[in-house]
Amino acid sequence: PVQFHPAVEPIRWLVGKWKSTKAVGDFPTIKPFTYNEEMEFESLGQPLLNYQSKTCHPVANNPMHLESGFLRINPGTSNVAFMVSHNFGLVSLEEGTVVDNNLNLKSTHIGRMSFAKDPAVTEIARSFVYSPNDKKLHITVLMATSNTELHQHLVVEYEKL
Ligand code: HEM
Repeated sequence: PVQFHPAVEPIRWLVGKWKSTKAVGDFPTIKPFTYNEEMEFESLGQPLLNYQSKTCHPVANNPMHLESGFLRINPGTSNVAFMVSHNFGLVSLEEGTVVDNNLNLKSTHIGRMSFAKDPAVTEIARSFVYSPNDKKLHITVLMATSNTELHQHLVVEYEKL
């Protein structure tokens, strides 16, 4: 049985394994694409959630973008911090607030390995919205790079496994 720390109550709606039902990517500089994703927010009873996202190609099934990290909440507040490491050599610290079934985050720090491919990511903005009616989770991810202003990169709908 999963234990929940009282501090994670405001973000408890994210806990579980999520499977994409529709995942599309786009950006002004690339061709639109689709993918499959499995994402998990796990509670081990600490005042934070463990995060993992694995995406793969919709046809060839090979792994694509991978993320892992932690989602923390300042206990007793709606302030949230999301620290994520990305398999292409990026680390992001994103902060924001949770209001009901809605979490919005914006990057405050982005780190990049010395031999990462250009363009550099300069900003990330994400939203997570859960609809209790159809039990679907929706996310959007926007990013800016050294070449391109803030623009949508990902739109995903998930169902809970
Ligand atoms: C392209 C960043 C998530 C798939 C890109 C580019 C960047 C980037 C900087 C190059 C854009 C350009 O050339 O102007 C990010 C960041 C992500 C993210 C910061 C998360 C916050 C994902 C995810 C997928 C994905 C989850 C799912 C498979 C792709 C693909 C391309 C791309 C297919 C185009 C081909 C390529 O350049 O490799 N992304 N990405 N990205 N991204 Fe993402």
